[in-house]
Amino acid sequence: MANVVVVGSQWGDEGKGKFVDWLSERADVVVRYQGGHNAGHTLVIDGVVYKLSLLPSGVVRGQLSVIGNGVVVDPHFLVDEINRLRGQGVTITPDNLRLAENAPLILSLHRDLDAFRENANSGLKIGTTKRGIGPAYEDKVGRRSIRVMDLAEPETLMTKIERLLTHHNALRRGMGLPEVEAQVIYDELMAVADDLLPFMDRVWHLLDAKRRQGARILFEGAQGALLDNDHGTYPFVTSSNTVAGQAATGSGLGPGSIDYVLGITKAYTTRVGEGPFPSEQDNETGQFLGERGHEFGTVTSRKRRCGWFDAVLVRQTVKTSGISGIALTKIDVLDGLDEIKVCVAYELDGERIDYLPASMGAQARVKPIYETLEGWSETSAGARSWADLPAQAVKYVRHIEELIGCPVALLSTSPEREDTILVQDPFQD
Ligand code: IMP
Repeated sequence: MANVVVVGSQWGDEGKGKFVDWLSERADVVVRYQGGHNAGHTLVIDGVVYKLSLLPSGVVRGQLSVIGNGVVVDPHFLVDEINRLRGQGVTITPDNLRLAENAPLILSLHRDLDAFRENANSGLKIGTTKRGIGPAYEDKVGRRSIRVMDLAEPETLMTKIERLLTHHNALRRGMGLPEVEAQVIYDELMAVADDLLPFMDRVWHLLDAKRRQGARILFEGAQGALLDNDHGTYPFVTSSNTVAGQAATGSGLGPGSIDYVLGITKAYTTRVGEGPFPSEQDNETGQFLGERGHEFGTVTSRKRRCGWFDAVLVRQTVKTSGISGIALTKIDVLDGLDEIKVCVAYELDGERIDYLPASMGAQARVKPIYETLEGWSETSAGARSWADLPAQAVKYVRHIEELIGCPVALLSTSPEREDTILVQDPFQD
């Protein structure tokens, strides 16, 4: 039995939702292992639209869904999301949803800090989702988080909050923000404890048991590999590890439990927020891609920056995430272009390089080196077999495979689930 990790191979928004849904129907367990409600997945099932941020996609189809320890959980947001989906007729009970006891919580003071830093005129603007993700992960690594299990121990919760506030109130004083009373945080947490505690579980144990029973586990990544805190365009990244290896750490399973990594890859490139983007097209081409591809953020509604496919970046994330095969999405957005460019290398200070340099300065200085390919006038939208695709589109896909050193396992030609060309089934690798 194969266990599959789905990751974004660019800066997120590659169209993971469609494939996660397709795979989750055939999985026994679906696990979120990093990020939080900075993610946004839209699922369309039988014409009904479900918007998920924190809940694993499997929950809509009734599969056992797990929020792992690597996720940062805003407890109020989670309760609201559960209630919203229940309102749409989705059954969510401890039978089909489990929450890791050791997952750290996002508190109101994390949201305050995220927004304050982003709005401050001085310092580096990252363009975060302002949902408190970064500050919550900082507290986790700083060993002062309040975690899900702490809700079950109200007698010691106050002491933990006071310890956390020693740090936060010092910061807040320095920033000119009002201090926070421990009682306020205590009440905030107790207001949701009864709703959340029934879902709490020893997730590492549950997943180990499932794995031994031969269950198929789908690990659902959020964001994209270039937003990874180690391997991405640091500091313009998110605060978690988004590469596939995190599926193991963020759920409590060993690395040997991952059999296949599916890298969701858009046929061009987009990015939300600040940071380097060598193949960005801040011009008519970018506007064409944005309009055709409906490139607006699911969580913040921000307009996404758009550009040509960057093979240098994806070639690198194929390596840093150990991607076995890619699912290429949105090729139909390129229909009708006379020519299509692909970034194949960079020029850095007069030299040609074939990788993304690690330093922020060098990342800002790299210039894309393009190859130009002939476009196609026919439509690829809705194609369900290679024979349905325009010949030039097939050439484009084959060329991408060569440039990134990884095969296309799936090709998506519209948001509809059936408009997919299946080359290799990740679960039957
Ligand atoms: P944060 O995750 O809210 O701290 O934001 C850090 C960076 O990651 C910003 O550039 C965000 O726009 C980006 N980001 C966070 N979540 C997503 C996502 O789900 N899709 C695309 N970009 C994201």
